[in-house]
Amino acid sequence: MERSPIIAPSILASDFSRLGEEVRAIEGAADWVHVDVMDNHFVPNLTLGLPIVQSLRKATTIPFDVHLMITDPERWAPGYAEAGAYNVTFHAEACENPVALAKALRAAGAKAGLAIDRDTPVEPYLELLPYLDTVLIMTIKAGFGGQAFMPEMLAKVRDVRRRIAVGGLEVRVEVDGGIAADTIEQAAEAGADAFVAGTAVYGAADPAEAVRKLRALAAAKMGVA
Ligand code: DX5
Ligand code: ZN
Repeated sequence: MERSPIIAPSILASDFSRLGEEVRAIEGAADWVHVDVMDNHFVPNLTLGLPIVQSLRKATTIPFDVHLMITDPERWAPGYAEAGAYNVTFHAEACENPVALAKALRAAGAKAGLAIDRDTPVEPYLELLPYLDTVLIMTIKAGFGGQAFMPEMLAKVRDVRRRIAVGGLEVRVEVDGGIAADTIEQAAEAGADAFVAGTAVYGAADPAEAVRKLRALAAAKMGVA
């Protein structure tokens, strides 16, 4: 694999009262900022929405990786693309026509991502890979930070990676949930090349240094410097 790892710290684990500073603390280290949008409907938790993403977009130059854990993503997702998100990921379980939404996101200027939650098999979605830029495999049940990594989810990562290789496709395989220094290597070995980390970054004394350590661990497994 010739791609370098993407490290995407999740602001869910940051101090929301100083969100701008928390994001700037990882500038120069993080590749993307992972923004978890939860609607208290698709998942029980409630976080933040479009107005906060629009404001936060002005606070940093780091590309935004928006993870929509919401129902009716057809209605809301393009707004995040228009707000300047680099990648917008919606959930397979919440969307009736993922190809149409992926096309709408690309038309609105963003990369298009499809997320697969813990209890959802990935096979039915493999044929959609040509329409996607990112596939996010949840390595926990979506909804809360700080949960334990589920290694059995890596079978899905392997399946997606295999299909990408066979098709010669350009798709990022992202993992989200419980990614830390003791789990990132097995995720990289399985074929992930984008890594979300909330607790492991914002729970560390030096978030930027935590990002650099995670990248070094992933890069070594991916065979890149
Ligand atoms: C949970 C979110 C994750 C969460 C990860 O549903 O999608 O992005 O912030 O948090 P950690 O890294 O603590 O598992
Ligand atoms: Zn997430």
